[in-house]
Parts: sequence; structure tokens; C-alpha cells
Amino acid sequence: MKKIVVLAGDGIGPEIMESALRVLTAAIGTKAPVFSFDYQPFGGAALAIGDTPLPASTLKACQQADAILLGAIGDPRWEKAAYTPEQGLLTLRKALGLYANIRPIKVADAVLHLSPIKEAIVKGTDFVIVRELTSGIYFGEKKEGIDTAFDINRYARNEIERIIRHAFTIAQTRQKKVLSIDKANVLATSKLWRRIADEIAQEFPDCHLDHQYVDSAAMKIMQQPTAFDVIVTENLFGDILSDEASILPGSLGVLPSASHGVNGVSLYEPIHGSAPDIAGQNIANPVSMILSVVMMLRESFQMEALAEQIENACFDTMNAGILTKDLGGDATTDRFTAAVIAQLGGIQYGENAI
Ligand code: NAD
Ligand code: IPM
Ligand code: MN
Repeated sequence: MKKIVVLAGDGIGPEIMESALRVLTAAIGTKAPVFSFDYQPFGGAALAIGDTPLPASTLKACQQADAILLGAIGDPRWEKAAYTPEQGLLTLRKALGLYANIRPIKVADAVLHLSPIKEAIVKGTDFVIVRELTSGIYFGEKKEGIDTAFDINRYARNEIERIIRHAFTIAQTRQKKVLSIDKANVLATSKLWRRIADEIAQEFPDCHLDHQYVDSAAMKIMQQPTAFDVIVTENLFGDILSDEASILPGSLGVLPSASHGVNGVSLYEPIHGSAPDIAGQNIANPVSMILSVVMMLRESFQMEALAEQIENACFDTMNAGILTKDLGGDATTDRFTAAVIAQLGGIQYGENAI
């Protein structure tokens, strides 16, 4: 039995988590249970019952898990807390060594029409953002004074080497094109990043490496999204560019991610936040969470058949016009979830699905 730690979190986190786990449970059906689910408090939900967003018991459970599912954290109520939910998330990523955050940006033909960008531009969009997740400006020394403040952006050679290697390894399974995004015309960290990326590229002669400045890359992601295969970039740029890229499929609510470390447990979470503006209304789009479960099945458990069945059911449901509000539809989270489950029912499982 595989042990999954569930961090539902705040805002829409618990709503989309419930949806995704209902879908997973339905997909497994009456077969022998393969997963156990261990719910742990995290983020604002943990602050509501204690004094830390990351209780020691939650961290311990995560360290001993086979995989972790995270909904989202963040709540305006805890914005001014001494230890915020966001800091809890950063501490968790650091403690688990989750340096490689994989954010696939794929627009299936069936849902092309949901993009606000012209179909001719978006058609065929299929790239991966490999975001460095445990260093850079997020983790450097920082100080907020009365009138001045600073955040140090610091990268060490080994941190750059491993994330660039990770990107090349993914590229080898795809079109073998890596684009490293930086700001090497201004930032020292980016100059080092670019130099090391060129060095690591020598280890992957079957792949091609390009470089681009982050400002022009931000423009090109909208102008010609089909030009990209694997993007690799530092923590802050990856955060910003991936939210920007969510415009391509039409909503933040459809983008999942996976975070990997060195031989340890992996964590799967949507790229979006807790969406306090729509929390508690049963209108959140659970696709991001369902697809995060799909990534978990593939990347932590090599359950490709089950992953594909859930993924297909999710896209078939959207293709049938059953859509949540963020994509212009009127389906509630519950209705969408039920429709995915019904769609699963119509799929014949192979004997080896699980
Ligand atoms: P957000 O990503 O929560 O929301 C941005 C916009 O996208 C909102 O209008 C929201 O309603 C919409 N949206 C996001 N997910 C959606 C979904 N599944 N379905 C439908 N609409 C969706 O960003 P924000 O409002 O800037 O941040 C809210 C809180 O979340 C903050 O506390 C922030 O720090 C936190 N946050 C957490 C994570 C995380 O847990 N990994 C990520 C980003 C932001
Ligand atoms: C994300 C979020 C987090 C980040 C915040 C909540 C700390 O925006 O997962 O993309 O910036 O990494
Ligand atoms: Mn973000």
C-alpha cells in the first residue's frame, strides 16, 4: 500500500483536493486498495489550530510518505502572521529538497477554443517549465527595514548544475530543445547561470541549448508558444512565467505541477494559489488538482494506464462542454467532478491498469 500524505491547505485547496481524490478513488474502483491517505494540517489550516503553518508532525509525515499531494495555501487572515502559510510552503520545499518544479503547459486540441489567444497561435502548444525551487531570491538573506529593504538573489554552482541537468534529462524524452531563461545582461546570478548552462550542455550532445532574456521570453510565450520545448529558469522567473503561461490553456485552474528532489519523496500541486476570491462557492476548477494526481501516478508510481484514463476522462469532460466558471462554463466543482467520474465509468480498464 502506497502512503500518500494529503495537504489540502486553504481556500479552494480542500475543495479541489476532495474532487481529485474522489476521481482517483472512482478510477481505482473496487480493486484492492493501492493507496492510503494521511491528511495533515498545513498552511493557514495549521495556523488555525496551532502556532505554525508547518507542524513537526506534518513534516515528519511528508518525509515518510511515498508521495505528497498539496491543494494550495494562503489566506488573507494569516498575511501578517509571524510565520505565514507561504513561508511554511517554502520551508517544506527546502526541507524535502524539492529543487525541480515541473510545470507542463499543454493545450490539447479539444480545449483549444477555451484559450483567449488565437487558435492559430496556441494550436500545438506543448512545453515544460522546469523551475528551480529551493534557492535564488526566495531563499537569500532578506530584511525589511522602515524605509529600505533587500532580498539577496544567490545561486551556487551545484544548484544550477542539477536543475540544468534535470531539464536536459526531460528534453531527452521530448524534442531535445532546452531554452534557459535569465537576465544575464544585468544580473550576476544570471551570468553564472548562463555559463554553467553552457558547460552542462556539453554533457548532452544530443540536445540543443538556447538562451533568452526573461523579458523577451515573457513576450514570446504569448507570441509563439509552439516554439518552446523545455524551459529552464530560476525560482522567481519560473513562478512568474508559469502564471503567464496559464493564459494559453485559458485558466490557472488547469495547470498541475510536480516537484522532485534527490531520491526523496515528490510533491504534486497545482501552480495556482488558494483563490480566496472564489473559495467556499463550489466553483473552483479542480482540473489542476486532478492533473496533479495524474502526474503523481506517472512520476511516483509508474501507473501510466491509470494516469491516462483519468487524464482522458478529464479532457473528454471539458471537450463535452462541461466547464467551470473560469473557463466560461457554469458547472460547479461537484458537477464537473461527477461528470469526470461518469466519463471514467464509460472507460474500459485494462487488466493491468493499476
Ligand atoms: P491565486 O492563484 O490563488 O488566484 C489567482 C486568480 O486565479 C484568482 O482570480 C482565482 O480565483 C483564480 N484561480 C486560481 N485557481 C483557480 C481554480 N482552480 N479555479 C478557478 N479559478 C482559479 O493567486 P492569488 O489570488 O494571488 O493568491 C491567493 C493566495 O494563494 C495568496 O495567499 C498566495 O500567497 C497563495 N498562493 C499559494 C500557492 C500555493 O499554494 N502553491 C500558489 C500561489 C499563490
Ligand atoms: C507558487 C506560489 C508560491 C511561490 C508562493 C505561495 C510562496 O506562488 O507555488 O507558485 O512563489 O513559489
Ligand atoms: Mn506562483
